[in-house]
Amino acid sequence: MRVGILGSGLMGGKLGTIFARAGHEVVFSYARSDKKLERLARDAGNNARAGKPDEAARDADVLLLAVHWSRMDDVLHQAGELSGKLILTCSLPMNADNTGLIIAHTSSGAETLAKKVPKARIVCAFNTVPSEVLFGVYAARRKANRPSLVYCGDDGRSKEVAAGLIRDVGFDPVDAGPLRIARYTEPFALLVGQLAYEGKGGPELAYRFERFKE
Ligand SMILES: NC(=O)c1ccc[n+]([C@@H]2O[C@H](COP(=O)([O-])OP(=O)(O)OC[C@H]3O[C@@H](n4cnc5c(N)ncnc54)[C@H](OP(=O)(O)O)[C@@H]3O)[C@@H](O)[C@H]2O)c1
Repeated sequence: MRVGILGSGLMGGKLGTIFARAGHEVVFSYARSDKKLERLARDAGNNARAGKPDEAARDADVLLLAVHWSRMDDVLHQAGELSGKLILTCSLPMNADNTGLIIAHTSSGAETLAKKVPKARIVCAFNTVPSEVLFGVYAARRKANRPSLVYCGDDGRSKEVAAGLIRDVGFDPVDAGPLRIARYTEPFALLVGQLAYEGKGGPELAYRFERFKE
């Protein structure tokens, strides 16, 4: 597929590199320097190139949206017409200093995005995973016991495409339901982030998810 990356930082840079290495055609866009985008594209191999957000969006089958919440309107504006596009969002509605969510409980960043671009098809994925693990998951992708990754959205066909990309990275995709489930996965992402970044002195959490068959 042709995958446009809107936001080529920790998440967009790594996921775009993995998508290119997995065989997709990738355009990296939206960073503060064109040199950085070119370097990312070079490191990702022959399937990747650098471009502007509108170039990344124009022919894309899928757009990965990976910007800080404060950059959302700007990147959407630069991307141009997004009607009918599948937007995979990992962006969390964080405040300026990344200490808390500015949308939660009764809505989510993903649902707010869906209202901003009503004619696009939104799937929320990859937001529950720290970027640091992505290359390791990709390197171990052929192992039988893959880590799970939840995603949600309202359009079945778009979710199938998203599930394929999640599998390409090395996760076992778990369909968590409609887009409104993002209001539960987004706060969970903060918990995962706290556990990941606070180091040994931070809190510990033991959990087990079980899937119940009907
Ligand atoms: N990092 C994680 O582990 C993680 C995990 C789950 C979800 N998320 C969410 O995913 C989203 C992206 O996170 P991230 O950590 O990848 O962020 P990031 O590293 O800051 O990447 C954001 C991208 O936006 C670019 N950018 C910022 N301001 C810009 C401007 N004025 N003009 C042009 N480009 C600009 C940055 O450019 P530069 O590259 O030049 O800085 C960077 O490429 C956020 O919503 C975050 O909450 C992150």
